[in-house]
Amino acid sequence: VATARRGARVLSSGPGSRVAAPDPWLKGAGPFHLGRIALERFPFAAWRRLLARHARRLDESLLGYGDPAGLGELREAIAAYVRTARGVVCEADQVLVVNGSQQALDLVSRVLLEPGSRVFFEEPGYWGARDAFVAAGARLVPVPVDSEGLDVKAGIALCPSAQAAYVTPSHQFPTGVLMSASRRLELLHWARTSGAWIVEDDYDSEYRYESLPVAALQGLDRDARVLYVGTFSKVLAPGLRMGYLVVPPDLVERFRVVRWSMDICPPALLQAVLADFLAEGSFARHLRRMRALYRERRAALVDSLRNELGGLLRVEGERAGLHLLAVLAGGGNDRELAYRAAEDGLRTLPLSSCYLAAAKRQGFVLGYGGLDVPEIPSAVRRLARVLRDARASRREASAG
Ligand SMILES: Cc1ncc(COP(=O)(O)O)c(C=O)c1O
Repeated sequence: VATARRGARVLSSGPGSRVAAPDPWLKGAGPFHLGRIALERFPFAAWRRLLARHARRLDESLLGYGDPAGLGELREAIAAYVRTARGVVCEADQVLVVNGSQQALDLVSRVLLEPGSRVFFEEPGYWGARDAFVAAGARLVPVPVDSEGLDVKAGIALCPSAQAAYVTPSHQFPTGVLMSASRRLELLHWARTSGAWIVEDDYDSEYRYESLPVAALQGLDRDARVLYVGTFSKVLAPGLRMGYLVVPPDLVERFRVVRWSMDICPPALLQAVLADFLAEGSFARHLRRMRALYRERRAALVDSLRNELGGLLRVEGERAGLHLLAVLAGGGNDRELAYRAAEDGLRTLPLSSCYLAAAKRQGFVLGYGGLDVPEIPSAVRRLARVLRDARASRREASAG
C-alpha cells in the first residue's frame, strides 16, 4: 500500500504544508514529451468558424449557471460517439462533461472513496490517477500488470476488500498492454461479487494501428460497476480541458451534487462549440486524419529506435496510442539516464517513476504525438548518444 506522489519529490511535509519540486526529468517540452500532440494539425478553420458563430449568437442562455453535468447537446453528442465508436452502453443523462480526465478521476474519488479506501492500482501506472486518488486519502494497492493487463487474481490475493480498481484496458499506461478478454471478465466478476467499482480510463483508444479499436470494458458490464472516463486531450487538444465521465444510472444524482460543490458546472461557450463540432461530423473527419498522421509518426519512431538502439532498447506497447515503451534491454538506471537526456533537451519519462513499489523494469516512456516525422531520427540519435555516453562513463568508472 503506497501513498507516494509521482511527478514531484516531497521536500518537506507536515501538517498543512507540502512543498514539492518537479522531478528533474520533467523539464521543458522537448522531443518525446507525453503531453504533446500534433497541435499544428488542430482543425483551426472549423473551430474559428464555430467559435465565431457562437460569439455572434451569444445571448443569456450561455451565461447563467449551467447544469453540473454539462450542456444537454454536448452530452447527447458524446453519448452517441462513445456508443458507436467505443461500444459504451449509455444514455446521454449518464454523461458528465468534465475538465479533462483529471477532473473525472478527482470527482470519482470524492464520490466513491473515503480516506483509507483501498484501490487496485496498475503497477506500473498513471501518475495523474495516482495523484487524484492519493489526494482523496485512498490507499493504493499496486497490482502487477503482465502481458494480459492487470493481474486480477494477484490483486484479490493482496487485498480482497478493495473498494475500487483503476484500469487503462485499451492501452495500459505506460506499458501499452491490451487487457485480455478473460481478464476483463475476471475484473467484472470481482467487482460484481465484492461490490467494488471499476474506473476505466480510456484515454487514447481511438488510435489503434494494426486492427480496429477494441471496445471498452464498460460495454461488457451488466451490473453497473464501471465508471468510464474519456478525454479530448489526445484527439483534439489538451488545452481545451474537455473530457467526460459516464456513470451508472443510480450514481448520476450523487455525481451531479458533488460536481456542483467542486466548480458548479463546465463553461458553456466551449461546450457549445464542441457539441457542434461533433454533431456536424468534423470530429470524425479530424480523427481519421490524425490516425493516419500518428501511424506514420509511430512507424518512424519504431524504425529509428530499432536502427539506432536495437541492442540497448526493446520497443513494447507500440500498437496503439501516442506513446510507446522502450525497455532498457540490459537494465540500467532510467532516472539517471532520463535526467541526462533532459539536460540535452529530451523529455523522456523513466519507466521506474511509474511504479509505486520497487521498479521491476527500467526504460523510457516515449511520446510521439508531437514529433513530426523529420524530427524523429535526430531525436533518437540524441537519445542514443546519451545512452552510449552513460555506458562509456560507467565503464570508465568501473575500470578506474
Ligand atoms: C492514462 C492517461 N489518462 C488520461 C490522460 C489525459 O488527461 P487529461 O484528460 O486530464 O488531459 C492521460 C494523458 O497523458 C493519460 O496518460
